[in-house]
Amino acid sequence: MSKISQDIIERVRDSADIVDVVSKYVDLKQRGPNFFGLCPFHNEKTPSFSVAPAKQIFYCFGCNAGGNVYSFLMDYQQIPFPDAVKVLAEQYNIPIEFNKKDEDSGLYSSLHELHEIALELYQDNLFSNSGEKALSYLEDRGLNEDIIRQFKVGYAKDSWDQLVKKCKGKGFTRSQIVQSGLFSQSEKGTFDRFRSRVMFPIFHPSGKPIAFGGRVFESKDPAKYLNSPETPLYKKSNVFYGLQATRDAIRKEGHVVLVEGYMDFLKLYTNTIYPVVSVSGTAFTSRHASSISKITSKVILLYDGDEAGCTAAIRAGWVLFRSGLIPSVIRPPNGLDPDDWIDQFGASKLLSAIKDPQDYIDFHIELYQGDKLTGAERQQYILNLAKEIKGIEDGVIRNDLVKLIAEKLYIGEHDFIKTVNTQRINPEYSPVDEISNEEKIVFSSKVDKAQVELIQLLINDEKDLRNNIIENLELSLFTHPLLNQLAKILYDKNLDVESSSIIEYFQDKNERDSIAQILFTKDQNSMSEEIVSDCIKILKSEPLKEKISALRIGIREKESRGESPVKEMEAITKLRIKINDL
Ligand code: CTP
Ligand code: MN
Repeated sequence: MSKISQDIIERVRDSADIVDVVSKYVDLKQRGPNFFGLCPFHNEKTPSFSVAPAKQIFYCFGCNAGGNVYSFLMDYQQIPFPDAVKVLAEQYNIPIEFNKKDEDSGLYSSLHELHEIALELYQDNLFSNSGEKALSYLEDRGLNEDIIRQFKVGYAKDSWDQLVKKCKGKGFTRSQIVQSGLFSQSEKGTFDRFRSRVMFPIFHPSGKPIAFGGRVFESKDPAKYLNSPETPLYKKSNVFYGLQATRDAIRKEGHVVLVEGYMDFLKLYTNTIYPVVSVSGTAFTSRHASSISKITSKVILLYDGDEAGCTAAIRAGWVLFRSGLIPSVIRPPNGLDPDDWIDQFGASKLLSAIKDPQDYIDFHIELYQGDKLTGAERQQYILNLAKEIKGIEDGVIRNDLVKLIAEKLYIGEHDFIKTVNTQRINPEYSPVDEISNEEKIVFSSKVDKAQVELIQLLINDEKDLRNNIIENLELSLFTHPLLNQLAKILYDKNLDVESSSIIEYFQDKNERDSIAQILFTKDQNSMSEEIVSDCIKILKSEPLKEKISALRIGIREKESRGESPVKEMEAITKLRIKINDL
């Protein structure tokens, strides 16, 4: 639980050149003072990802991802901050030193430690006397001891505090305990979240445990599975169950079989089908797709054979196409899930199906009987397909799909292309990402924009101008919370903050992206003086304008009561003069 010393963080940052670091992963070409390449964080054909060596930051004009060397590694390799520092420190031969006391920057390592403790406890439980029933449940379901040990399946006892006790006295803070997702809180205190359950640990691709899924097996608890909540370690939208063990097999085989459940995964693996991962009950997102796309482009959807499973497979298929991947489908018979299919019919059928899975479009047409529909239903079906196709950016995939669908449904290719072109892209399917888009921070109002301008000038321009801003504008007039935080850093540190280190004051990825955008965009500007005075005017007039609006309301109220609003009118006039004098 110690923290890497600030000194080291700075030394490593200064030694690591961002162009060098990024070049390892992205092919960069110099254009003017900056470098450009294809963005590794979203799909694109023309480079909008840029790196500014002078400021040591990167920013993508396409998806707004941005940051410094550390955030690049954090986002690219999906590792926490301290790991990013360690990776670079190693590359640049700088020995890591830790600070002893400071705690919460040790959040990630503490959360990892808590998960290691839980993992070990659950495993010990499973192979102790108390775990007998859990173990025989797993064996009855066809899992042998090797698999159980390899995937570190465990057992959480019927106890409210077994894990609580284990973690006591080990120096974890309350906040770390809460954020781990391994406990539940009530007025009475902290309890083990998982009880009486078979425990499936979920691993980061690096092999560290980051979450758990727990299944009941003795009682008929309505919640069959209980999973870890989202935590700083565990973001459901891009984690697969099992990937840590199957990554190499996926690369080697050139495809991956995607299943829905923990047991499906383990059953396939037991039957020597190794290139497999599971989404474990969460919807398949473009983040999942992008993490798979680094190892293969062929995804075989092996979802449950029931209606829900088919619908989920249809959805996942479109997500895959939009991310430039190629889905195909295997549908288990009789509404079975893959686990039960293997139990009832053996693995051989599945093995041959994997060699020759169904084309996604064939599956689509078969599922909805698309080739048998007539009239309005047929039209609607074609329209729905066109809408999905419109969301696909990759021209090759799009053309292939258009051809295929036109052929299978007996539509003229050109007619279908026209239909596709007239569709509006579902805003959900913006190329960047369904999830992070909602969280993106935008500065759209005039007041926000003025604050952004001033901050850019604070960072980039000469001393006089900066002092002018600081002297004339109180911090509180930066009203946007994020911009206020940023301005405060610039004010407090007496402006001695380099672009690339500012990024590290922000822990949230969306915040970092926004900050990088602000830092990236602006350079020296000849009109700086005027911009400063304009922006300061906007910000200073804002509270006065608010007062005027409030007075207007007062006036209307008085008028409705038949009273005379003279005082309010006078106050407004005074405020107007004040605004003009700014
Ligand atoms: N799931 C979940 N929470 C639930 C139900 C399901 O997290 N309440 C997830 C689990 O990862 C589960 C997957 O969704 O493995 C598929 O769910 P389901 O088909 O209902 O379960 P099975 O995988 O068939 O589980 P089992 O074979 O153990 O009954
Ligand atoms: Mn099942």
